[in-house]
Amino acid sequence: MTPRSFLLTPELADHVRASSEPLDEVAAALVAETAALAERGEASPTYQIAVEQGVFMQLLTRALGVRRAVEIGTFTGFSALCIARGMPADGSLVCLDRSEEWTAIARRYWERAGVSDRIEVRLGEALESLRALPAEPVLDLAFVDADKTGYPAYVEELHPRVRPDGVVLLDNTLRGGRVLDPRSEDDHAVVALNAALASDPRWETVLLPLADGLTMLRKR
Ligand SMILES: C[S@@+](CC[C@H](N)C(=O)[O-])C[C@H]1O[C@@H](n2cnc3c(N)ncnc32)[C@H](O)[C@@H]1O
Repeated sequence: MTPRSFLLTPELADHVRASSEPLDEVAAALVAETAALAERGEASPTYQIAVEQGVFMQLLTRALGVRRAVEIGTFTGFSALCIARGMPADGSLVCLDRSEEWTAIARRYWERAGVSDRIEVRLGEALESLRALPAEPVLDLAFVDADKTGYPAYVEELHPRVRPDGVVLLDNTLRGGRVLDPRSEDDHAVVALNAALASDPRWETVLLPLADGLTMLRKR
């Protein structure tokens, strides 16, 4: 198995997954269909979050008692499935993505999992969709996993919308290790954001070395 945490050997990555809650049949089928898309070259093999990250996000959502959440970057819906499953039946997750094709796959699996009534997809440019949400501090959780150069603006727009003690998760903040040797515009954007967040008094910040790096912010 290819490890998604770049510092893990394949054997350790297997151990991590074997020692965590297993995926059920619906989530496993979604992961398999998305892997097949990647094998056919129709999507990036690194788009979907790692399985163990999904398990963690579901547990965190439940442990925090999240009822209202936003996701920026939904793709075929695995991370949204995990968040939605961690919420109570009357929870609400708004998913922002510009791809009708990929989110159509997501909707099939949310339906199968019985969580589609908690999820609303807003198609279009994520920043515009985010700005269209009321600037009221009602969100318990936000997950950001879209264009990396957009992250600073997403974090700014999320700040007034997240409640005090609410949490924002930012994916890919280790950039496969390239934060130490940034090559692309995306790499440089994440390096600058990581430095800015570490000294931003509005957030309590930790960069967790889970999968490709998951930064967790708590609104002070
Ligand atoms: C890395 S994938 C998300 C993976 C997803 N969280 C999962 O676990 O399967 C990134 C997604 O962000 C979307 N995206 C990227 N930039 C965007 C933008 N500016 N506005 C809206 N969607 C965007 C892409 O269409 C893609 O579906």
